[in-house]
Amino acid sequence: MRAWDLLLTEANAATMAGDGYGIIDNASIGIAAGNIAWIGATAEMPPASARKTRSMEGRWLTPALIDCHTHLVFAGNRAAEFEQRLQGASYETIARAGGGIMSTVNATRAADAGTLLAQAWTRLSHLKKEGSATLEIKSGYGLNIETEIRLLEVARGLAAESGMTVSTTFLGAHAIPVEYRGKADDYIDLVCREMLPAIRERQLADAVDAYCEPIAFSAEQVARVFEKASSLGLPVKLHADQLCNSGGAELAAAFGALSADHLEYTDDQGVKALADAGTVAVLLPGAFLTLGETTQPPVDALRDAGVPIAIATDCNPGTSPVCSIRTTMTLATSLFRLTPAECLAGVTRNAARALGLDDRGTLEAGKRADLAAWDIGHPQELSYWIGTNELAELYIGGERHIP
Ligand code: NIG
Ligand code: FE
Repeated sequence: MRAWDLLLTEANAATMAGDGYGIIDNASIGIAAGNIAWIGATAEMPPASARKTRSMEGRWLTPALIDCHTHLVFAGNRAAEFEQRLQGASYETIARAGGGIMSTVNATRAADAGTLLAQAWTRLSHLKKEGSATLEIKSGYGLNIETEIRLLEVARGLAAESGMTVSTTFLGAHAIPVEYRGKADDYIDLVCREMLPAIRERQLADAVDAYCEPIAFSAEQVARVFEKASSLGLPVKLHADQLCNSGGAELAAAFGALSADHLEYTDDQGVKALADAGTVAVLLPGAFLTLGETTQPPVDALRDAGVPIAIATDCNPGTSPVCSIRTTMTLATSLFRLTPAECLAGVTRNAARALGLDDRGTLEAGKRADLAAWDIGHPQELSYWIGTNELAELYIGGERHIP
């Protein structure tokens, strides 16, 4: 007879295994040592004993949600700049005038770790309250060794305090800091020769990202960062083709990137490259909305080519002041015409893949018991309601965190 720590009964499960929702009616889930030991229709459950049994009373169970692209750790905000943009200034103009990312860099450099942690905690708590157990956090608002290390340490600290998994990403190549203005190649030298080795040595980053755009770094400069990251054994991902087609998708694919993110301007060649490389397309509707973009990512082409699609908040003070993964799901349906099933896959199965985490994202035996229970009648509701929260319970590694 099997011995489980916890048995959840009377659930409806959207396992997200396979292509669609992977629905199991009247499901039970046995949990042992933090993992799913068994899941299936209750009528087929093998003989088992559990230290604790809990009825889900007909609630829906899904994998806990995963936000695979955030810039959650920063100081201050850019509400004033948001207002300037509403009056007609463009993101590029503000960035070139020394505002934009650099204004957040100035505020972030001046903030100590405690302040950064407290401000990020509020944002992380919103994500957790909505059923997230895993999130990615990028650095990139330090742009010097000391502050980049501080940001990544704060991200690790958030994981320790919240019990969530935080996948950290070094985004040193996010913008050219003022002290390197006109000397982007010298800054890339600093990223490659000093920052990356220091961060690797401290094991502070799980991956490396870069911003490939005319207002940031060229494909050649990003390639140098990616070569160094690869030589240090760190996987890469890329902010690609957000404001124009700069060949970002092909560049990401050429390095076997985990993901290529944004992709509004990616063309057919870029889509094919992603498909061939098995790179996940991460779509960021919050940034699309906030920037008032009109060019949509090539969703049909990505679908047709079989590129896995994830969606994420892109939580950041400049282009996506969004701390809600549920709102992001709704935005992805209305702005990008993803189906509710694609949205849920985009914050579970495909988001896990975008982070290179193969131990989560679906409800299957052997996966982590990161589960969300919802007061809904069907999982399509998760991409339907706006501003509500139907989360009833959240389990992380088999432990109940909410309520
Ligand atoms: O994902 N593109 C660069 N990174 C962010 C924007 C950061 C900022 O404006 O502060 C993004 O859109
Ligand atoms: Fe981003």
